[in-house]
Amino acid sequence: MLILNKTAGVFFKPSRRKIYEFLGGFHFHPGKLFLHKLVLGIETSCDDTAAAVVDEAGNVLGEAIHSQTEVHLKTGGIIPPVAQQLHRENIQRIVQEALSASEVSPSELSAIATTVKPGLALSLGVGLSFSLQLVDQFKKPFIPIHHMEAHALTIRLTNKVEFPFLVLLISGGHCLLALARGVSDFLLLGKSLDIAPGDMLDKVARRLCLIKHPECSTMSGGKAIEHLAKQGNRLHFDFQPPMQRAKNCDFSFSGLQHVIDKMIMQKEKEEGIEQGQILSSAADIAAAVQHTVACHVAKRTHRAILFCKQRGLLHQSNAVLVVSGGVASNLYIRKALEIVTNATQSTLLCPPPRLCTDNGVMIAWNGVERLRAGLGILHNTEGIRYEPKYVVPFIISVQLYHKNQSLNFAFTVKVFIDILVVLEERLY
Ligand code: KG4
Ligand code: ZN
Repeated sequence: MLILNKTAGVFFKPSRRKIYEFLGGFHFHPGKLFLHKLVLGIETSCDDTAAAVVDEAGNVLGEAIHSQTEVHLKTGGIIPPVAQQLHRENIQRIVQEALSASEVSPSELSAIATTVKPGLALSLGVGLSFSLQLVDQFKKPFIPIHHMEAHALTIRLTNKVEFPFLVLLISGGHCLLALARGVSDFLLLGKSLDIAPGDMLDKVARRLCLIKHPECSTMSGGKAIEHLAKQGNRLHFDFQPPMQRAKNCDFSFSGLQHVIDKMIMQKEKEEGIEQGQILSSAADIAAAVQHTVACHVAKRTHRAILFCKQRGLLHQSNAVLVVSGGVASNLYIRKALEIVTNATQSTLLCPPPRLCTDNGVMIAWNGVERLRAGLGILHNTEGIRYEPKYVVPFIISVQLYHKNQSLNFAFTVKVFIDILVVLEERLY
């Protein structure tokens, strides 16, 4: 019997009729031979319902995604029961589309991989219960996926990247810097102490009412800020990057957001406009906000690269920094990170934008990686639960590592002043 997290109360069992309807939608290809193992990946951790079939060699055979962004933009943020309902309405269609596009029938799959943590409880529950139905029906192995591990490993699908590499995940829900040492072996170097950068950009965009801006009405907050920043002058506002003196690789964005909020309120007073109207200085504010976020992210990452190189945790001449997550699609932030990688003789790699944001391919690929490594493949799903909370058991935190290795993050202040100067000079 399957036991799900009852507190979330999200177990929904498609009827037998629905399952037959689902199966009836497939075109089976008798006699077709797949040389590689095939994994179906299912992602519902937040506001995207996504699925994909990926083979062992990294070929994406079929994928489908339903984004809820437009709905959540209208409500000013994600309302979990709304997200849950939209996942329920779309999951069957999306999985079916991914399978049909791949011309793979469920019986030909080697395993089904699904995000089970972290994320919104109500959203995770939909993907997990749907997956368990398929697992049960087709007697397939199940691979529970950690969403962050999937983001971190995506680069190995698109590029030939060997472990170890440094990974920076920046999105609406995540912000972490980790050293990837193996498929499920991560050393956490830093994380946000409060909110994620995408969350902050979304809040600033909402505060600036960018949804009412004719050029930005369908864009996510971060994308709207990037778009508007191109028309603004960052030098008209001076926001200080957070945590300049902290000798670690953590991040913080809520203090900065507070400062920006106050600045917007002051500007509204000066311009004599009501909250809800667009400021004439919105583009300048967007440019300054983007610049400050870019500097903060770049400086913490610079520290992590230096730390890893100094301790021999990354290749000296061939270090790789992988950046992923929705915020990684921001070209200004990428430019800042490129300045850092150039200054440290490292290489910056980013998955293509569609694989930076949440998607089914990364979950299927994580399934392939785990299948190949023989890690976490379940033949009995009894007791499997989703875990909404952001816990990092998959990652050894650097504090723990410090205890064992007596390491610390202290560097001379000069190194950091230098990179700030370089960023100020080279960012447009
Ligand atoms: O990875 P993602 O699709 O979902 C999760 O948060 O997991 O990332 C979405 C976030 C949103 O906060 C959005 O505002 C931000 O990524 N984002 C951007 C850009 N495009 C999306 N932030 C900055 N610049 C962009 N171009
Ligand atoms: Zn994500």
